[in-house]
Amino acid sequence: MKIFKRFFIVLATLTLSQFAAADVSTNKSTLNDAYTYANYDQVVTTHLYLDLAVDFEQKSLSGFAELTLKWLDDSTKTIILDTRDLVVHKVLAQNSQGNWKKVNFSLAKRDSVLGSKLSIKPSFKASKLRVYYNSTEKASGLQWLSAEQTAGKEKPFLFSQNQAIHARSWIPIQDTPSVRVTYTARISTDKDLLAVMSANNVPDTERDGDYFFSMPQAIPAYLIAIGVGDLHFKAMSHQTGIYAESNILDAAVAEFDDTQAMIDKAEKMYGKYRWGRYDLLILPPSFPFGGMENPRLSFITPTVIAGDKSLVNLIAHELAHSWSGNLVTNESRRDLWLNEGFTSYVENRIMEAVFGNKRATMEQALDAQGLNYEIAELAPGDTQLYIDLKGRDPDDAFSGVPYTKGQLFLIYLEQKFGRERFDSFVLEYFDSHAFQSLGTANFVKYLKANLTHKYPNIVSDKEVNEWIYEQGLPTYVPKPTSTAFATIDQTNFTMVSK
Ligand code: BES
Ligand code: ZN
Repeated sequence: MKIFKRFFIVLATLTLSQFAAADVSTNKSTLNDAYTYANYDQVVTTHLYLDLAVDFEQKSLSGFAELTLKWLDDSTKTIILDTRDLVVHKVLAQNSQGNWKKVNFSLAKRDSVLGSKLSIKPSFKASKLRVYYNSTEKASGLQWLSAEQTAGKEKPFLFSQNQAIHARSWIPIQDTPSVRVTYTARISTDKDLLAVMSANNVPDTERDGDYFFSMPQAIPAYLIAIGVGDLHFKAMSHQTGIYAESNILDAAVAEFDDTQAMIDKAEKMYGKYRWGRYDLLILPPSFPFGGMENPRLSFITPTVIAGDKSLVNLIAHELAHSWSGNLVTNESRRDLWLNEGFTSYVENRIMEAVFGNKRATMEQALDAQGLNYEIAELAPGDTQLYIDLKGRDPDDAFSGVPYTKGQLFLIYLEQKFGRERFDSFVLEYFDSHAFQSLGTANFVKYLKANLTHKYPNIVSDKEVNEWIYEQGLPTYVPKPTSTAFATIDQTNFTMVSK
């Protein structure tokens, strides 16, 4: 049932040496993300300011990115950033006296998976960097639509999709979920277009082509997002609303008007929603996913506006990421199940709370069935929760395994420990890791200390290992069944033709 559309497909043809560079085991112990060039064990970005002009003619964003740096290591002054298909014009660095100096940089040859490493080597320890650059038509994280390709047919549309590693195609940045930044941005565009970002969108902002954004909560690069188009806003509640082209706005509001109820139910189970507003941006149908959990502003495909709310679990899913993923984040692409498995579980709990147990179980049963079909087709190595990406482009190792096998693992734990204990475990997990990233090994440590060893002899270490590190599904996997399907199977339908 899941709509796993691919954004684009790059066949990763890695040489042996590239493969070694992308292998976690060859990295230093503190660098668990093999999909970044950043030396984030030595220096981290804490704040990003983007000053960008949107050029629909050139299909380019141009301006500068200013990075505020925090040094963790005394022995170096070098900063390494991720880029892909960017044109870098110059780099300035600020010294401790606050003076800006032009500094040398080098852009390495483009790797087909990782992009081009940008090495910046000031002669002093920079406190801030300014990279002047423009993105190009090739940007893998941006989609530029001409006016004819939009619903309204009058004005162009731009949107981004940064996950997994596309932020680097429009921002020179430490593109790893292990580094979080707050950000501010100034975006200039045509006067009659509205820009929105994964930040503080002001519903009644003046439409003048000059927009300022602030995101005060620290987020990883894959959650920075932008949309520009002939967008209009309609509120659904005090906290939620929709940005969309006008032809689809009312239908979207009618379809998704349970969003506030979803937030309220989720807060009761998993703690406060910590992001302020929660709005939806409805994209053109070429948006490559069902949804993307960009904070404060989930990006949503128009194809789920079915007219009967039958696909609104997508909203529950993207909203659930406000806890699992955006608040507590997987530290590398190998740990995607921590984001998506938890989110699928929380999504289903929200669906149960808002629409009842029958609907939630039906969705569980459909997903479990889909997973069985998928596992039969997948390479066995790709059926582990802690996946071995083998240097592939993360987009090429995308499947339902982190989602539904992850969800079934959590349903298993819930059934074994009881809902009350399991819910307080999850609440405490979100709370104690808020605005942090963690990997599978640290999660397992936390799980043992706070659940499986705390209440011993219920779930063994061997079972935990089997779920996370072994292939396929355990024999004792929960098997959600829905009476709805049995009823349909027993009903004789007669086709009536006019
Ligand atoms: N964050 C994902 C989309 C994603 C995952 C993009 C990994 C790139 C790499 C988003 O939250 C998601 O899971 N979308 C699903 C929703 C569905 C499971 C309800 C989709 O678009 O199919
Ligand atoms: Zn998701």
